[in-house]
Amino acid sequence: MVEKSFRISPETINKIIKDFHSEMSAGLSGRKSSLAMIPTFASMPTGSETGRFIALDLGGTNFRILEITLGGRGRISIPAQHRFRLKTRDITGTQKQLFGFIAASLKRFMLANKIGAGEKILLGFTFSFPVRQTNISNGILLSWNKGFSAKNTVGKDVVQLVNKALKRKGLHNIKIAALINDTIGTLVTKRYSDPGCDLGVILGTGTNAAYPEKKMGEMAINIEWGNFNRLPRTIYDRKMDATTPNPGRQTLEKMVSGMYLGELARLIFSDMTNKKILKPWEFTTTHLSLAESDISRRLGGIARLLKGLGAPSLTYADRLLMKRICGMVSARSAQISAAAIVAVILRIDPGLKRGHTVAIDGSLFEKWPKYRSHIKSSLVAILKEKARKISLALTQDGSGKGAAVVAATASNS
Ligand code: BGC
Repeated sequence: MVEKSFRISPETINKIIKDFHSEMSAGLSGRKSSLAMIPTFASMPTGSETGRFIALDLGGTNFRILEITLGGRGRISIPAQHRFRLKTRDITGTQKQLFGFIAASLKRFMLANKIGAGEKILLGFTFSFPVRQTNISNGILLSWNKGFSAKNTVGKDVVQLVNKALKRKGLHNIKIAALINDTIGTLVTKRYSDPGCDLGVILGTGTNAAYPEKKMGEMAINIEWGNFNRLPRTIYDRKMDATTPNPGRQTLEKMVSGMYLGELARLIFSDMTNKKILKPWEFTTTHLSLAESDISRRLGGIARLLKGLGAPSLTYADRLLMKRICGMVSARSAQISAAAIVAVILRIDPGLKRGHTVAIDGSLFEKWPKYRSHIKSSLVAILKEKARKISLALTQDGSGKGAAVVAATASNS
């Protein structure tokens, strides 16, 4: 019964694709839609842009700072980078705390890598939340997602907030040349060396995608597909949603992305077995992927994983059930991602007349081979032999490199 409610039929997939198209059109023309379809003012690179840039990347589990060199002819290198683990108090505290943390980290990075002092630095800021932009270097935060909730930030221009924090730290030689979303970063990073790339997708802590819209002169549109809401939800989806900081929002994201899949599996398992052996949110998507991939005898891997969480190792039958639940949660996630990918590609090229590269980044796709093959088989199920026209390309570091690429295209124009 539960398994059945997690299986999406081919008819439903077709309906999802159709609804996706109407929500895309509504969003683009400013009508009410669950898809924000945000114009980003980012244009597509040619691959010949050059220069040295700093990129800030905020939007997932870590905050990163990178020094990036664009060498032209599609070459990008990262001479230095640093990853700062975000603490809950940094992302749920005050606005000053969060942006002060960003500025202080940048100051440390510049000192450690001997960057700055006197020279003018162009910076690209990847900020992976929905923002409303009126040009390439501003953005009003529309809502926080993925567990972020720093106060007093929604409704503010995040570029101004970074600028103020930089001034407070005495950093006066930095110009924020571009504010981008991680999906834009992923799209332009691949596009820098592959003109056939016309979709950038993130499948990580959160999920979203961006593409160049022909009707707007190939400007990149940030779809914010995580908020798509015309999907068949189960009681478990609703139960989990109610425990998040943003109930009723990000419906697709909560059925697809890494922040939520583990908790969804935990809820199903404890409901079906009545065994409340795991605490809310402690079974993460990393655990889920390990459980789904466990092929050891009598599922010893799952037993070990449970032990690591301080839980009893369960009977073999229960471990088998856990593995099945994890498999069905991840297969549904991949089915929905594949449907969304197909929907966007069909909007760009309704007859699938040419090949398309889809640049994808994020832990689900990068670290979980089984998830990747779920997506591929879902693409084949939807498109049959035409699935060959779509090639999925793991594009790492788009949220770092892409900020530099857009900073370069923006400062050249
Ligand atoms: C955000 C998007 C972002 C995606 C992937 C979502 O929660 O709303 O802006 O692109 O996560 O990081």
